[in-house]
Amino acid sequence: MNGKRRILVTSALPYANGSIHIGHLVEYIQTDIWVRFQKLRGHECRYMCADDTHGTPIMISANKQGITPDELVSRMHGEHSRDFADFLVEFDNYYTTNSEENRHYAELIYGRLKDKGHIDVREIEQAWCPHDGMFLPDRMIRGTCPHCQAADQYGDSCEVCSATYNPTDLKDARCSICGTPPETKRSQHYFFRLGDFAGKLQEWLAGGPVQEEMRNKLGEWFAEGLKDWDISRDAPYFGFRIPGTVDKYFYVWLDAPIGYMASTRNWCDRNGRSFDEFWLNPDAEIVHFIGKDIVYFHTLFWPAMLMGADFRAPNRVYVHGFLTVNGQKMSKSRGTFLSARQYLQHLDPEYLRYYYACKLTARVEDIDLNMSDLVARVNADLGNQFANLGSRVVSFLHKRLDGRLGRLTGDGLALVESLEKAADEIAQLYEGREYAKAMKRIAALAHDANQYVANSAPWSAIKGDPEEARNILTAAVNAFALLNVFLTPVMPRMSQRVEKILGRTGLTWDAVHERLEERTINPFESVFTKATDEAVEALLQSGLLPAGADAAAAAGGEAAGSDTPAAENPPAAVEPQSEAPPAAVEPQSAEIPFDDFAKVDLRVAKIIEAKGVEGADKLVELLIDLGQLGRRTIFAGIKKSHKPEDLVGRQIIVVSNLAPRKMKFGTSHGMLLAASSEGTTIYLAGLETGAKPGQRIS
Ligand code: MSP
Ligand code: ZN
Repeated sequence: MNGKRRILVTSALPYANGSIHIGHLVEYIQTDIWVRFQKLRGHECRYMCADDTHGTPIMISANKQGITPDELVSRMHGEHSRDFADFLVEFDNYYTTNSEENRHYAELIYGRLKDKGHIDVREIEQAWCPHDGMFLPDRMIRGTCPHCQAADQYGDSCEVCSATYNPTDLKDARCSICGTPPETKRSQHYFFRLGDFAGKLQEWLAGGPVQEEMRNKLGEWFAEGLKDWDISRDAPYFGFRIPGTVDKYFYVWLDAPIGYMASTRNWCDRNGRSFDEFWLNPDAEIVHFIGKDIVYFHTLFWPAMLMGADFRAPNRVYVHGFLTVNGQKMSKSRGTFLSARQYLQHLDPEYLRYYYACKLTARVEDIDLNMSDLVARVNADLGNQFANLGSRVVSFLHKRLDGRLGRLTGDGLALVESLEKAADEIAQLYEGREYAKAMKRIAALAHDANQYVANSAPWSAIKGDPEEARNILTAAVNAFALLNVFLTPVMPRMSQRVEKILGRTGLTWDAVHERLEERTINPFESVFTKATDEAVEALLQSGLLPAGADAAAAAGGEAAGSDTPAAENPPAAVEPQSEAPPAAVEPQSAEIPFDDFAKVDLRVAKIIEAKGVEGADKLVELLIDLGQLGRRTIFAGIKKSHKPEDLVGRQIIVVSNLAPRKMKFGTSHGMLLAASSEGTTIYLAGLETGAKPGQRIS
């Protein structure tokens, strides 16, 4: 092994106004595996993270919930910390950007940039809500798309036709908080002159800190020219006030990456360590793990800020792709938008760790989660191959041979040597983030070990020569021990159970050179419990319930979590996935804020076809015409009062922007308005004549 390295590792700081979901976990699990691997190898590796707490969406979320942003932020810090701990993501420090350390470094870095002339001030024009008295980010303006006329689209892009435009192009634009049409207003903004660093950034990139695929993307950005970056926001804003101003704040993305430093500083202060050993020391390594949606920030703005403020630039920025579920982006309507907590209520965190490991490569490609594949994979590799190997041989050794190991000889020794030889290769794969290849290699070795046991049949050997049986079992136990070292970064909890059986403590990677001979090991205790289809089914069902209840209670709903990142992430390397528009109604309270109600898009629809649904005595399946919004299928529980054939041709009122909902008989793409009370006739809300399908109702 080479000399001892000092490595500071980070994952991106999750936004504090949303719950951690299984998409986020791709990143935290990928990073955690790498960090655990480095620690196991004996390096000093420190894993720093924090909540990203500032910005307009957090302020608004807190307002909605009637609490202060500080209260919201500290509540979410608790929730996030528990989620990560329960997924065995082990940070050295999980801090917050809403901290004095972060203010200190934000002011320090900004001050240095300003002193060196890298900050410009100029006036810009922006949308402003006269009612809320605040400037509106593009994502907080909603209106009709100028291209396809779809209602209720964001100020910068349309989710129906994918067009991008300026908020001023939007028809009947409204403030998404209060519904007031925005005005334009001028104000002074502070800009970071990114272009000043073009040469230095090119030099840095030439040193290979990013993956090949990303270099091409970066080449395009350089070709387009590096533009000044607007780093200020006007009050009211939740964040740090810019020194020397009264009503200007650092844009959340300025102080977010500085949170990596704040977390380090906080950890150093609590552990009697020096901050400079990491952030000024050219021999230390700084490694960032991030998703493909935030590359611009981490490969241009952030290194430039560091360079301009006399800190060292990162050594590596490792970019990963996004999670898809069954080949599609996570979606609430399909029940695949799962929070970390929902997952934990049904399945073991180590299944997901292993499954992601089986999918992760060093490339920036999306990775797909398929739940039935997950069950098959973990059960086959970890259950049938790995755990089963240990269970069979350790139990047999205890039942017949007092749990005492013999010597490694012959084929058994050859097996163990082949595993020992694979150790370096597997270490290289971990180092290079080629986890999928590492898992494949490990699974193949587990297969070899099982094959060896089957071929040498210790249960027959014991009849003639118990010592030969003991030696066979010894080889198998050594193979089990080696495989366990290999799996430790991915499966830390299972690894501990195995180590307990082997009677070892303080595992390091060097254990691959340790042969277990002529000693007694502990009796077998279960190390792995199989995944079941039932648990997966229950998890997916929970995903179909209206938004994660705990998430909603804590943060104003996944709605906030899903549209906020977009709200605060302007230039993306690759289109980030954004979840379907927020649900019309927040589930957890009886009272809904007006602006949520305002999101309900009521429209006239004409029934084109209607038929009963076999096996459901209340349901009618309707094909409805919504004018320019097209035709859709919806299901309605109105058969008791309305014969399907009488419905055709009627004009009804539907909620047109309800997320599609999967039902037993099909997917419903909307909901019609009807009223009844127990046992009475159901009255359809409708219009007799004069209305056009697709027309908006107010
Ligand atoms: N707060 C910013 C990061 C600031 S870092 C100085 C942010 N937060 S986030 O909560 O939206 O995302 C945190 C990380 O999770 C990002 O690296 C992001 O790419 C990653 N992921 C979020 N959703 C993801 C998937 N669906 N799939 C894979 N990674 C995902 O961005
Ligand atoms: Zn407003």
